[in-house]
Amino acid sequence: MTGWPTGLASPSWGGDYNPEQWPEHVWKQDVELMRRAGVNLVSVGIFAWARLEVADNRFDFGWLDQVLDLLHDGGIRVCLANATASPPPWLTGANPDLLPVRADGVRLSHGSRQEYCPTSPVYRDRAIALTEKIALRYGEHPALAAWHVNNEYGCHVSRCYCDRCAGVFRDWLRARYDLDGLNRAWGTDFWSQHYSSWDQVLPPRVTPTLPNPGQVLDFARFCSDALLDLFCAERDVLSELTPDVPVTTNFMANWTFKALNYWHWAAEVDFVSNDHYTRADDPERHIELALSADLVRGLSRGEPWLLMEQSTSAVNWQPRNFAKLAGEMRRNSYSHLARGADGTLFFQWRQSRAGAERFHSAMLPHAGEDTKVFREVTQVGEEYGRLAELVGSTVDAQVALVYDFESAWAAEQPAHPVAFDYYATVLGLYKALWQLGVTVDVVPPSADLTGYRLVVVPALYQVTDDEARWLEDYVRAGGHALVTWFSGIADENSRVRLGGYPGAFRDLLGVRVEEFFPLAEGDTAKLTGGLSASYWSELLHANGCEVVSSYVDGPLDGVPAVTRNVFGEGVAWYLATTLDADSAVTVLSDVLAGAGVTPIVSAPPGVEVVRRRGERISWLVAINHTGADVVLPVEGVELISGVDTAGGLPVPAGGVAVVREV
Ligand code: GAL
Repeated sequence: MTGWPTGLASPSWGGDYNPEQWPEHVWKQDVELMRRAGVNLVSVGIFAWARLEVADNRFDFGWLDQVLDLLHDGGIRVCLANATASPPPWLTGANPDLLPVRADGVRLSHGSRQEYCPTSPVYRDRAIALTEKIALRYGEHPALAAWHVNNEYGCHVSRCYCDRCAGVFRDWLRARYDLDGLNRAWGTDFWSQHYSSWDQVLPPRVTPTLPNPGQVLDFARFCSDALLDLFCAERDVLSELTPDVPVTTNFMANWTFKALNYWHWAAEVDFVSNDHYTRADDPERHIELALSADLVRGLSRGEPWLLMEQSTSAVNWQPRNFAKLAGEMRRNSYSHLARGADGTLFFQWRQSRAGAERFHSAMLPHAGEDTKVFREVTQVGEEYGRLAELVGSTVDAQVALVYDFESAWAAEQPAHPVAFDYYATVLGLYKALWQLGVTVDVVPPSADLTGYRLVVVPALYQVTDDEARWLEDYVRAGGHALVTWFSGIADENSRVRLGGYPGAFRDLLGVRVEEFFPLAEGDTAKLTGGLSASYWSELLHANGCEVVSSYVDGPLDGVPAVTRNVFGEGVAWYLATTLDADSAVTVLSDVLAGAGVTPIVSAPPGVEVVRRRGERISWLVAINHTGADVVLPVEGVELISGVDTAGGLPVPAGGVAVVREV
């Protein structure tokens, strides 16, 4: 983090503000209501290109001038968009080749949003010109706290397959391989795909059957880089013209999206911001939220980050858009805050009357102020005003969890032993750690693991030789690791590592796997020690490791499923199957105990507790996701109520607490 929105004393509270959807007389009322709701930061202008550049090179900034002045007069800071997220119809109409092309050759039309190809020079030039105009006009506006570039790059169009992108993809490849190298990396002797000249190389467009895995993987890398290049071009304009104003763009590091390698992106923003929406039909959605928040803190290298968007209640894009329960949005906000967010904002301030998102909740619903949603918004906004001292603090964690976007791109391709969802697999294991009350830092492969007692490595499908050595070195020097199935299978080009799975980690784990045995949908495998598993199993040989648990009956009767290997000064565990939730908790508690990791406080199941740490003081944030009141063995001052907690911290059913520890 090299910057933070300026002029904010307490955690940020607010949301996307789209005044262009409303007549002028509403704007004043908006500011008054925002003040009532404790709003201190709003994102303005994200989808306003068509209202700012009303025709080719004809601008109308008058309305935005007024809005920014009103917000400033109301004491509300602004994260101002450069407004490039959705090119206006006059631009796409005059330049149809600016529109992106799908893998099947269909060029997308105007009429929605994000309809641009990342390599279009016209789009880029016009986006840069608009960014310049906005920076020059508002760079010194007193309301300006930060720049919000574009919006959720890649959300709808993360890949464009047009001829121009094909050419830029070839240039990208040529910077990495000569033609022989490309043929080797992609294994093009399979199915007669050998390339004899560069102009034969294409993006992985629709083909009769399975595409080449190396080609798909490299195209995913290229597309992430192409969008990042666009972001950097927009950012550079802002950083040059207004070096003191921090720049961000909102990521989607969560269950809905994996198309960008955010480890690369995070290095390019002044502060990390993220959008998160819970999956309404998942009873454990608060645990997925926690994983996403930990991932974002990892992207921010442990520094505070900003939740740019969440929803106050229902969204409009899931199969059933359930409303949030009373108190749920508050708990969601505090979970993000606990895990390093120094502010939690929403899409959006005022619920739209027209347009595609009119049934998406907002801070101020269609039904107005006398609502559950607005009351809760006002409550949390007011509470955040009492939490100023937390701003800038970090989060304590003893466990690292490795997350790799490229393993998702490689392992989620078709024609694998089972259909595979990387994020869901990581989440499955994370849930056990969450249940055990352990806070986890999410890190990239090759991260500095100094200070972590345990590193958890779920389904790290592809690794370089250096990454394999990195994990070995950590364990050899005394670290503890837990590696799961489908790790170390392939190299960075998706070529299988030979000699038995998990190729890269056989020595570290002391195992050799000769064949995968996926389970049928709904089948359960019984294991010794009262454990059970599903989804995946493998024909594994212990090669010097200790067998912790083996299959009982079935095709793999007696075969090891959970192993533990002493390696150098450390210990490496292997999970060769997907343990069911309770079994995962059982095994993980042994792994944690062996590594000397303890929960932050002893709390009943379903009560989330995370510690934030400042220079001299620390705070515990507790979120009670259960239906029962609890009392936690914590001493200090509860900051929301101002009450001294000597004798125990009460956290009511569904409630939250923030304690400055003594
Ligand atoms: C985000 C987007 C917002 C809004 C929101 C609805 O992906 O950035 O503009 O569409 O989803 O949930």
